[in-house]
Amino acid sequence: MKLIQTGIPGLDVLFKGGIRKGASLLFAGAPGTGKSVAALQFLCHGAQHGEPGLLITSEESKANLSEYAATLGWDLAAYEQQKRLFIVEYPLTQGRILSLETPLALIKKHKIQRVSLDSLTLFKYQFTEETSLRKEILQFLASMKSAGVTVVATAEQSIPSVDHMRYLDEAFLFEGLIILRRVRKGASFERVLNIEKMRGQPHVLNIYPLLIEKGGMKVLTEEVPFSLVEQQVRSRK
Ligand SMILES: Nc1ncnc2c1ncn2[C@@H]1O[C@H](COP(=O)(O)OP(=O)(O)OP(=O)(O)O)[C@@H](O)[C@H]1O
Ligand SMILES: [Mg+2]
Repeated sequence: MKLIQTGIPGLDVLFKGGIRKGASLLFAGAPGTGKSVAALQFLCHGAQHGEPGLLITSEESKANLSEYAATLGWDLAAYEQQKRLFIVEYPLTQGRILSLETPLALIKKHKIQRVSLDSLTLFKYQFTEETSLRKEILQFLASMKSAGVTVVATAEQSIPSVDHMRYLDEAFLFEGLIILRRVRKGASFERVLNIEKMRGQPHVLNIYPLLIEKGGMKVLTEEVPFSLVEQQVRSRK
């Protein structure tokens, strides 16, 4: 089984090397929890290691995206120039339908191995009925699988608390699901992550703290989230 590194330090350790080539992984979380960073990091890691990637994004402009990536230490323009990264924009404001023609043509032409879709809202915009939304996402995932690429997608999801989970319908369509959250720690918040599922692969079920800084996201696999441990201690008192 060939494993593809997510490029997120720590996460690949939790996956025991990476995710299966051709798998689909969804990062879900509230605003600002790190979904876009994770999706970009997956592609930048590929670009740095000879695995060309494609970003399908609803960002308003490539310039914004490049500026954002630069703060994390990634030079998107250089990757694009070297044909290690391709970006297809579908601004939500223009109401364009997410057509698979362009992405599939790029994948074939440039031997793209990684695709990030940020975010699934791109499908939601067009399809209001739940059934057709699921169908569109399934079709997307099926065509990516037959093209042999590994997919990382993001989904906006408000998560009430660590103990109360409301799953998105879309989450069932992906082979892997990672939940990103912020948990209150005193007068601040701590970022945490856990792997909810990864079909066909062993993984841990613990919750880990994570950092977002220059260089991207990093999972602290040797640490426990103090915010949660403190809550547990408090509730025992
Ligand atoms: N260069 C950076 N240095 C430090 N922290 C950063 C940097 N860039 C982003 N962050 C932090 O990472 C957070 C997550 O950003 P990200 O864009 O991935 O969130 P998101 O989950 O995609 O949010 P949204 O749902 O609004 O799109 C930011 O809110 C910020 O706190
Ligand atoms: Mg985002």
